[in-house]
Amino acid sequence: SYVIGAACIDVLDRSCVEVCPVDCIYVGERKSYINAAACIDCGACEVECPVSAIVVDRVARRDETLNAHLEDSLLFFAQPLPGRALPLGDPGGARNIGEVGADTALVAGHPAP
Ligand code: F3S
Repeated sequence: SYVIGAACIDVLDRSCVEVCPVDCIYVGERKSYINAAACIDCGACEVECPVSAIVVDRVARRDETLNAHLEDSLLFFAQPLPGRALPLGDPGGARNIGEVGADTALVAGHPAP
């Protein structure tokens, strides 16, 4: 899979969302998140991101901050987000649910720019 790192926070460009062929990039409030359960590793998002926030997971695991966002992206789908009673789970496509508008604790607590 691929992961969106901290560089996305408060940028939220959304170019990646447009190019993902399986519609697995979900927009939170300050950052977007890739659903690892659906990502097919095509890499289209990585080249599209204007702030180079997206990296492949095997590279992310070697970097403490990127690895934290890799694990955090799993939590985005596995844990209930603020304002929601249930976890997103695997919603089957970002367009199905629209922009989520909420973040994980890690991203919500990230210092403002
Ligand atoms: Fe989509 Fe990027 Fe994966 S474009 S399929 S999230 S590598």
